[in-house]
Amino acid sequence: MRARAESIVVLTGAGISAESGIKTFRAADGLWENHPIDDVATPEGFERNPQLVYEFYNQRRQQLLSDHVKPNSAHSYLAKFEHEFPGKFLLVTQNVDNLHERAGSENLVHMHGELLKMHCLNSQLIFDIAEDFNFDTECRCCRSPGNLRPHIVWFGEMPLQMNKINQALESCDVFVAIGTSGNVYPASGFYQTAKIRRAHTVELNPESTSSGFDEHIAGNASEIVPKYFETLLPVY
Ligand code: OAD
Repeated sequence: MRARAESIVVLTGAGISAESGIKTFRAADGLWENHPIDDVATPEGFERNPQLVYEFYNQRRQQLLSDHVKPNSAHSYLAKFEHEFPGKFLLVTQNVDNLHERAGSENLVHMHGELLKMHCLNSQLIFDIAEDFNFDTECRCCRSPGNLRPHIVWFGEMPLQMNKINQALESCDVFVAIGTSGNVYPASGFYQTAKIRRAHTVELNPESTSSGFDEHIAGNASEIVPKYFETLLPVY
């Protein structure tokens, strides 16, 4: 491990929210909450059956807002770390839940969108939404129904804020991936971008997903995130 980190990029995936009661995407059956990913996470699936897709994300939103889903100690420690770490820190999440911000994280990019937002296909404006919505919901800008879709980046679409992410990756000295299977591009290649400037790359995950990381720490996020990040704080 190199001397002292000055710039850190963290990538999180579904595994960090698993202990908060939100299922990961790639369970053994390959389904996402009982649906084939093609049906609920592609523009083609939305075209084929918009009602199913609206209902699916309405259910995910209701689940996220239910009393039993809360940030766990991994989310909380990352927020605490961001406030105590004297260097640069960027948290990139593939998750569409809001558990990082509920825990207090601030410099955060939701590269795959957010469940609590919808966007208008006409104006591309983005609105907060806590309630259910569907094809019949009147758009707040167009004042007509049929224009709103979940603010989720589906397969085949461009992830959000890639310039900001790439700039941070190209200049970081530590890159940490937490709870992600490394199946989805471009996030799966972030550790390689970070290595361009010889960043130290670390994976925190019960399973080892790639031999390309410099270090793999096995365990559940709620246990290993606080332990590992504590070692990155300066000792005074
Ligand atoms: P996956 O479901 O593919 O992978 C979850 C990872 O979390 C696996 O590697 C597990 O080993 C790990 N894991 C499980 N429990 C854990 C725990 N308690 N602590 C730490 N890790 C744990 O989820 P992602 O890699 O996030 O995209 O999936 C990436 C993208 O695929 C998602 O953002 C989504 C999905 O389709 C879109 O919706 C566009």
